[in-house]
Amino acid sequence: MKNTNLYFSFLLLFLLFLTSCNTSETSFSINSPDRNISIEFALSEEGEPMYLIKHKSNIVIDTSFMSFDFKEVTSLKNNFKIVSSSMATIDETWQMPWGEQIDVKNNYNELIVNLEEKTDDKRQLNIHFKVYNDGVGFRYEFPKQANLGAVLITDENTEFNLKGDHTVWWIPGDWDIYEHLYSKTKFSKIDALSKQNHENLAATHIPQNAVNTPVTMKTDTGLYLSFHEADLTNYAGMTLKIDQDNLKMTSELVGSERLQAKAKLTVPFNTPWRTIQISEKAGSLIESKLILNLNDPNELGDVDYFTPMKYVGIWWEMHIGKSTWDMEGSQNMNTLTEGKSATSTHGATTQNAKKYIDFASQNGIKGLLVEGWNTGWDKWLASADDREGLFDFMTPYADYNFDEVMAYANQKGVEVIMHHETSAAPLTYEKQMEEAYNFMKANKIHSVKTGYVGKIIPEGEYHHGQWMVNHYHKVLVEAAKKEIAVNAHEPIKATGKRRTYPNAIAREGLRGQEFNAWATDGGNPPNHIPTVAFTRMLSGPIDFTPGVFNIKFNEYKKGNQVNTTLAHQLALYVVIYSPIQMVCDLPEHYMVDGKVHPAFQFITDVGVDWQQTKVLDAEVGDFVTIARQERETNNWFVGGVTNENERTQELTFNFLEAGKTYKARLYKDAPNAHWNNNPEAYEIEELELTSDSNLKVKLAAGGGFALSIVQS
Ligand code: NOJ
Ligand code: CA
Repeated sequence: MKNTNLYFSFLLLFLLFLTSCNTSETSFSINSPDRNISIEFALSEEGEPMYLIKHKSNIVIDTSFMSFDFKEVTSLKNNFKIVSSSMATIDETWQMPWGEQIDVKNNYNELIVNLEEKTDDKRQLNIHFKVYNDGVGFRYEFPKQANLGAVLITDENTEFNLKGDHTVWWIPGDWDIYEHLYSKTKFSKIDALSKQNHENLAATHIPQNAVNTPVTMKTDTGLYLSFHEADLTNYAGMTLKIDQDNLKMTSELVGSERLQAKAKLTVPFNTPWRTIQISEKAGSLIESKLILNLNDPNELGDVDYFTPMKYVGIWWEMHIGKSTWDMEGSQNMNTLTEGKSATSTHGATTQNAKKYIDFASQNGIKGLLVEGWNTGWDKWLASADDREGLFDFMTPYADYNFDEVMAYANQKGVEVIMHHETSAAPLTYEKQMEEAYNFMKANKIHSVKTGYVGKIIPEGEYHHGQWMVNHYHKVLVEAAKKEIAVNAHEPIKATGKRRTYPNAIAREGLRGQEFNAWATDGGNPPNHIPTVAFTRMLSGPIDFTPGVFNIKFNEYKKGNQVNTTLAHQLALYVVIYSPIQMVCDLPEHYMVDGKVHPAFQFITDVGVDWQQTKVLDAEVGDFVTIARQERETNNWFVGGVTNENERTQELTFNFLEAGKTYKARLYKDAPNAHWNNNPEAYEIEELELTSDSNLKVKLAAGGGFALSIVQS
C-alpha cells in the first residue's frame, strides 16, 4: 500500500550528506537534548525542502515535503539552495501565573535553515526546527525580501508521512466546530465525510477527508504521536488531509470564500508551529508542555485580576429545558432539538440569580455565570440574516436587576462572570466591545464567557479561518486592556497562546457536557473524557462544565441523560484541567433531604490551580488517573475515570512527602454502580495515607473516583 521508494532514496541521500555534512552543508540533523528524538532536514534533487523524524533510530515520520502555493504567484517549492543555517541549545525555566504546574522547563535544540531560490527571483524561506525530549515543532519564516510582498496563500503543503497504519483518535476537519465525538479507527479507515451535517451542530462544514488537531495516534510498537499546532496567530487554523493509500497527512488550512484563499499575509511573517508530541507513555502526552513552550513569553505581565475559581451558573437549566434564555420564554434547547415552543420561563431573573449566589456562598464556590441576562435572546437561533445587531451587551432584561444582583453578589463574596453570546456575528460584537468591556470594568467584573453559535456572518468565513482567528485574538487583546479574562465557546482551538496572553483562561472547543442535555445521538459516551484527555486537552484548558449529580434528570428530559456515574463527574474536577471549573447542576440537585449532598464536599474542597500534575496511569480512550497538587495548600487531589469497562485502579503514593501522614477521603462508585443502571450510587471512605501506602479502587462501568489528600 505504501510507497517506500521515497524513503529509501532519502536515506541514501542522507547517508551521502552525513559524510559530507561539514563541507557541503546540504543536510542537517538535530537531536533532542536526551538524544531520543531527531529531525533530519535536506533538499531533494529538485531543491524541495524535506524532513524526516526518528525516535530512537526508528523512523516515525518518513520523508515529508514542505511547500506553499499562492494565488497569482509562483509556488515556493523547488529550486531552493541552503544559504546559511544556525543551531542553538536552550535550557530555561519559566513560571505559569496559573496552570497545571508552576515551573515549566523549556529545553530544546534549535536548527534554523535559511533557504533561497536558485532562480532570478531569489525568494527566501527560513525553516525553524525545535527538538524537545517530548516532541518537535517547526515553523516557516517568510523574511522581508525584494520579490515577495503581499501573498494570498492558497495552500500550505506540509506533509506528515506516517510509517504505519496507526490507531487514530480523531474528529473530522470541520471548518466551523470541534464539537464532534472522537472516533477510534486505523488511519486507513478515517472517514471524516461520514460526519457531515450532524443535526445538533448549528454550524458545520467538513469539505473533505481531513481531521482536526490535536489528533492522537498509537503505533503498533506502542509509541504515541499527537499532531497539533502552536501559536496560531494571523493565520488560518490547520486541518490535516488524509491520504489513506499512502498513510500520509498534509496540512489543509481552513479557507475563506470571501478571500478565495486560505490566508492573506504580507512579509515578513511566521506561520504557526507544526507540532508532533512523541511519547512512549500515554500519560506523558498530558504532562508535556511542548505546545506552551513554543509560544512567546507572557506579554501581559501580572494578571492577578483573574483568580482561578469554581463557578455555578444559570446555565444547565436552559439546556435541560427548565427555563429559557429569553424573557419571552421561547428559547431553550428544547426549542432547538424538539422543534416545539417551551412553556418554561426566563432563567436569568434577579430572584433566581440570588438563589445561585446563596448556594455558592454557602458552599465555597466563588463564581456565578448568568446566561440570558441581556436583551436579544428571543431570536438567537434565528436565520443567518437576522443575527447582525441582535445582541446588546449592556442592556439587561427588565426582570433582571443588574445592579441589585451585583450588589448581592458582592455582599456574599461571589464574583459575577459576564456572558456575551455573539450568535456568530463578530462584527456586532466588535462594535460594542469597548463599551461592553468598560461596563464590565465599571462593575469590577473580570471575566467573560463568550460564544459564537451559528454560521459566521459575514458569509464565506468560518470559525477556524484566518479572519476569525484574528477576531478571537482581538477579543483577548482588548479584554486584557480592561483587565478581563476570556473563556470562549465555539472558539478557535487552543494553541498555547495562554502563555503569551494569560487572560486566555479557558475555552470550549469540544463536545461539552451540554450535549448530554439535548443531543439526539445519545450524548457523550463513557469513553468521551478518557479520549478527550489525550486529544483536545493536549491543546489547553477546557470549559467542559462538569458536576452533574442528577444524572438522568427525567423530570425535565426523559430521552437524555449523562452517561457516567456520579463519582466519574467528581473525578472530572481533577482529570480535566481548567482554571475555571463549572459546578453545573441546579442547586436543588445538590441537596438531599434539605442538606447538601455528602459527595458535594469534594467539589467544595477540590483545587483549581496547581503546583504540579502527575498522570498516574492511563491508556488513550480507556482510562486516565491524574494527581494534582494544589498551590498554596499543597493538598493533593486524585481523579480517575474509565470508559464503558469497569476496572480496578491500583494506586501508590510516592508523590506524597515521606514520613508524613495525610488524611484522605475517597469518593468512589458503589459496588453495584453502573453508568446506565445505577449511576448515582457512590460511597465515601475516610483513609490515612503515607508515601508508602497502596490502594485499590474499583471503578464501575462508566465510573470513576475522586480522592482528596490533606496534610494532617
Ligand atoms: C453554546 C455554549 O457552548 C453554551 O455553553 C451556551 O449556554 C450557549 N451557547 C448559549 O450561549
Ligand atoms: Ca458549544
